[in-house]
Amino acid sequence: MTASRGLTLHLGPGFRLGHRDSCRGYAMSHANRAFLPAAGLDFLLPLYDPMVKLLGADRARKKLFDQASVQPHHRVLDVGCGTGTFAVAIKGWMPTVQVVGIDPDSKALARSRRKAQRADVSIRFDQGFANALPYSDGSFDRVFSSLMFHHIPHDAKLATMLEVRRVLKPGGSLHLVDFEQDGSRSHNPLARWLHSSERMQDNNPQQILNWMSEAGFLEPRIVDSDRPIFGRIAYFAAR
Ligand SMILES: C[S@@+](CC[C@H](N)C(=O)[O-])C[C@H]1O[C@@H](n2cnc3c(N)ncnc32)[C@H](O)[C@@H]1O
Repeated sequence: MTASRGLTLHLGPGFRLGHRDSCRGYAMSHANRAFLPAAGLDFLLPLYDPMVKLLGADRARKKLFDQASVQPHHRVLDVGCGTGTFAVAIKGWMPTVQVVGIDPDSKALARSRRKAQRADVSIRFDQGFANALPYSDGSFDRVFSSLMFHHIPHDAKLATMLEVRRVLKPGGSLHLVDFEQDGSRSHNPLARWLHSSERMQDNNPQQILNWMSEAGFLEPRIVDSDRPIFGRIAYFAAR
């Protein structure tokens, strides 16, 4: 189901498709909840991996991993894992780590599973939403969120932080990289396109830190920031 320009659809708690968001594609999945797919529109999904690779996403994900001090015995969760590139890379960097990826997009998950199979690594990929994680309390040492948080609707952002905190073990930590809000004002047309969704509007670093604090995270902080060609990104950590 896709919202058309000028229409506002109410799809239940936290999911309202307004006309500005309708410029980007929406997909329905998993109990008919809406989500914004990786490349904005389903048919662009095959282009997602080569496009973000070209834009420097591999470097950003490696940097995020290095910030997390992952240990060989850890169990890690990649929320909004998309096509599984990060999850598969983690197994390459530290093969003994248990990796779980979750995403609402069945098409992206199918790509993830094929990617893991090709790399001959064992990764569990689940279908689900970041604000309703199907995992027990305290079941992960690290949670990663790579270029995912701006896909979450405003109303579900705090719930997402609460869920991430719930599934983290005591002493565990969240590591998140995402665009900063100022991309919508960028002179770079690509950055403007990527940041055109109204969901970018509240994706400013202070707001993300506030959600982390509100969810009960300790020491939420910005660890670093970069300006690859798709616009400014910030790296966050909280425990
Ligand atoms: C830009 S992609 C990032 C994918 C991957 N993390 C990466 O680094 O390439 C954003 C992903 O978030 C997923 N997503 C959208 N809404 C979500 C939600 N409510 N909960 C979890 N994931 C969501 C999309 O399906 C998409 O795969």
